[in-house]
Amino acid sequence: MINRENITKLEESALKEISETGDSKELENVRISYLGRKGKITLALRSIGKIPEDKRPEMGKLINEVKSRVNSAYKSKNSKLLGDSSDKAPYPGDPTLPGRKNWLGGLHVLHRVTKEIKEIFFGMGYSMTEGPDVELDYYNFEALNFPSDHPSRDAQDTFYINRDILMRTQTSPVQVRFMEKHKPPVRIISPGRVYRNETPDPSHSAEFFQMEGLYVDNNVSMVDLKNDITFFIKSYFGSEARVRFRPHFFPFTEPSAEVDMSCFACKGKGCSICGKTGWIEIMGAGMVHPNVFRFVGYEKDLYTGFAFGMGIDRIAMLKYGINDIRKFLENDLRFLENFWWQKGWE
Ligand code: PHE
Repeated sequence: MINRENITKLEESALKEISETGDSKELENVRISYLGRKGKITLALRSIGKIPEDKRPEMGKLINEVKSRVNSAYKSKNSKLLGDSSDKAPYPGDPTLPGRKNWLGGLHVLHRVTKEIKEIFFGMGYSMTEGPDVELDYYNFEALNFPSDHPSRDAQDTFYINRDILMRTQTSPVQVRFMEKHKPPVRIISPGRVYRNETPDPSHSAEFFQMEGLYVDNNVSMVDLKNDITFFIKSYFGSEARVRFRPHFFPFTEPSAEVDMSCFACKGKGCSICGKTGWIEIMGAGMVHPNVFRFVGYEKDLYTGFAFGMGIDRIAMLKYGINDIRKFLENDLRFLENFWWQKGWE
């Protein structure tokens, strides 16, 4: 029969055993013997039905209090034992190994080159704008003076989405979009991705990057064109780089030129990189065609301007000695990490 006395004794012995145990396993046995399903305190609670009814509430309350005190003694002892035992456990790794270095990514080499080119043009007073990759035929060709049946469209193999919508083949449509919204003076660059239906090889990719440039004002001449482009090339590739303008054709510029720089590898003597010519082509350029001004609604004969468009991938390959354009989009870190400004902090 349970009574006040033996419950008190029960509590005393439980607390004593808990305080005397030295490890978790032993403690667990103590817990089971008092608080488990057949533990002494559990059984005492269950036998409450055997005592006279008027004593039950008082006895019930007492046993529940004992139970909760024993339980909290158990808990604090348990966490103490766990804390102590983790101090004693052997370190799970090999403490003689060197630590792991922090690993930090970096900018993609094309992003880095774009940034470097932008900085040079910002210094010359250009600002930046962007246009969509999915473009209207109107902006990519029509307003750039490529009539729909013109053979020069063939030079840019195009991914058409439908008759009127395509993946832009060049960044030149940004010229039209910008001039539609802004009156001269206009002095912008516009980097971005362009798409052509080409079979990939070391110098061709179906996606690559261009940087468009446009300067329109009163009295802008071919001299300004040559000056800005030459300044850019010498700033980026070094003052010994030489620049040559070759007559060419683009529908949206007249006159038009292709711009070559002296081969960085052989310094113009002729080698396998430049095809023994000593020169490497890096951009197209020319004076904005009057028809383009007509399409954007500029007043006739009031303005002149020049435009240029360079292949960013090509520039990156020349600047950093990369021999395969496909590497840019393969996402191979063993390649990309060679061009990070800051390789992982060491
Ligand atoms: N958009 C032309 C191309 O992709 C390059 C270019 C830009 C030429 C601007 C002249 C003026 O080939």
